[in-house]
Amino acid sequence: MHVGCDYYPEHWPTETWEGTAKAMRRAGFNVVRLAEFAWTFLEPEEGVYDFALFDQAIGILGRHGLKVILGTPTAVMPAWMARTYPETLAVNQGQRVEWGVRKQNCATSPAYRRFSERITRAMAAHYARNPNVIGWQTDNEFGYAHAGPCQCGSCRQGWHDWLRRRYASLEALNAAWGTHFWGLTYRAWAEIPIPVDFGTHNPSACLDWQRYGSWLQVRFQAEQVRVLREVCPGHFITHNFMGYHDTLDYYELAKDLDFVSWDNYPVWGGKVEVNYGASGAADLMRGLKRKNFWIMETTAGPGGWGEFGRNVRPGELRKVALHQVAHGADGLLWFRWRTCTVGREQYWHGLLGHDNKPGRRYREAAATAADCRKLAPLLADTTVKAKVAIIYDYDSLWATKIQKSFAQNSWIHHVGLHQAALQRAGVNLDMVRPDADLSGYRLVIAPQLHVLPDAIAQRLNAYVKAGGVLLTGFRTGVKDASNRCHVRTLPGLLAESLGVHADEYESLGDAGYALRGSAAFPGNYTADCYADWLTADSAEPLLMHTAWHMRGYAALTRNRHGKGWGYYLGANIKEPGFYDQLIAEVLRAAKVRPLITPPAGVEISVREGAGRKLVFIINHLEEPVTMPVPAGKLDALTGRRTGATLRLDRFGVAVLRW
Ligand code: GAL
Repeated sequence: MHVGCDYYPEHWPTETWEGTAKAMRRAGFNVVRLAEFAWTFLEPEEGVYDFALFDQAIGILGRHGLKVILGTPTAVMPAWMARTYPETLAVNQGQRVEWGVRKQNCATSPAYRRFSERITRAMAAHYARNPNVIGWQTDNEFGYAHAGPCQCGSCRQGWHDWLRRRYASLEALNAAWGTHFWGLTYRAWAEIPIPVDFGTHNPSACLDWQRYGSWLQVRFQAEQVRVLREVCPGHFITHNFMGYHDTLDYYELAKDLDFVSWDNYPVWGGKVEVNYGASGAADLMRGLKRKNFWIMETTAGPGGWGEFGRNVRPGELRKVALHQVAHGADGLLWFRWRTCTVGREQYWHGLLGHDNKPGRRYREAAATAADCRKLAPLLADTTVKAKVAIIYDYDSLWATKIQKSFAQNSWIHHVGLHQAALQRAGVNLDMVRPDADLSGYRLVIAPQLHVLPDAIAQRLNAYVKAGGVLLTGFRTGVKDASNRCHVRTLPGLLAESLGVHADEYESLGDAGYALRGSAAFPGNYTADCYADWLTADSAEPLLMHTAWHMRGYAALTRNRHGKGWGYYLGANIKEPGFYDQLIAEVLRAAKVRPLITPPAGVEISVREGAGRKLVFIINHLEEPVTMPVPAGKLDALTGRRTGATLRLDRFGVAVLRW
């Protein structure tokens, strides 16, 4: 297993490098990532390459047993490039951005793409046979754009070309976008605007613009990947993704890579909160290629660029790291080794402080590296194998960003309500694309599957008919792939599985309306933000509206279809506890049971394979927890066997062999 940190030798005097490498080795590290912002050192003048600094640094690291992942350095363009080729800088609202931070380039600029190819090729050729270099990270965090999406002439031309390839004819584009509305019909490709304002432009144009922006980054990466594969066939290629980041189709970005890595910074705010966001994001990162992933950056101390957040509590740095291992991380790097004394990230704290003294956080990282060494042989060939899937769909996410439907709507938050409830129930899940093979899952949850092409609806119906359990609900099936409303009563084709139809629907604003449960689903809840006026046709109503104007309409239903069940949630529910009851109900219908039901604040994640099963039990709380577990299970970290209960320290993690 690879464990280490992100390191910037270019920030520190050469005399410190040897001591740093030794201290990393003492911590038990075996890998570092270098160079993703180092273009100016590697190509100080156009076409003049200089690898001396990194050769020396890699040589020293290598002597101390540290392997290197190199970033292609294209996240920051050198000053000479901006000066000599201003067209490499992005344009925002008609203005070229002022050079001076990172991620400011135009993604279509032929000059930038040529320079990116050349530096990638030069680095690849130089390091192809360096025994200490094992792999590459393309660029840094694609999608994070300081300049926003570029609107220069070259990007506009690229947009028109992309549309031409997609639609072939203007007639087809006009039809797909419905440009007869407001009389916005195009009679020449050059007339098509960049839909900068998602609040006023045609939603179909906006969705295509989002797709085009995503495709540009995927193509930019592909150009580097092509060179790296050709010149360094022995090296792996990855990229540092950003979890729930929402501007790129991450499934597409992941396709060209050997594995996904991601940057996980879950420690924010002033107090410890149990937040399952890092669990869901990890499941999405594993879902992109249906494969384990790496953590390329993670919390090493307080983070911030001007103000900084709280510090990691004792035990928390280890918990944050092992939590990701539990979800499928096979590599783990802390950001960063040492806190920088200069530049924008002086307050983004590394394992070591400004004073370079190995302290508590360094010792904890070293202890975590030791844990990973213990776990490594057991983790080999294991991954998370889930019986439950959540459909994570970028088209639906984007379409609901372009038109939220109701003021409080956040697609990712809505997905998170279901995902966190599964986590609280102690059940692992996969995040999968809408056209994934669902046959291995007993339960599929599709929150706000807003963009629903007919083929996907038919697959979902077939899945239910064959015995699957589907949970979906409001704002599902509203749009087709062009982001036009379907000409159907909601939930469209899925009515076959769900046995309901929405006569009407509305946003509820600040109002809350009481719901009454049933014998099958007891409890009183409140609909807020949004409600369908839902008629149960063949379905059984589980929750009913009681407000006079919605009386007789259902808010939650279940329907037998073939051998399976279709559940429909027709309202946003105010009480967070509702989602626990809902998830318990659908898990019961799907006959999925957790190995252990965790107490509040404790998470269970299982890695299995090669005849082994490892049950991670993770305490997210800053209080110790004692919980019942089966007796006699061996804790792979402590070497002790469980009694009838397990005690976890504050932020404690146990890994039980099952
Ligand atoms: C990450 C980025 C790093 C560093 C870190 C802290 O998103 O990849 O380069 O900036 O955040 O701000």
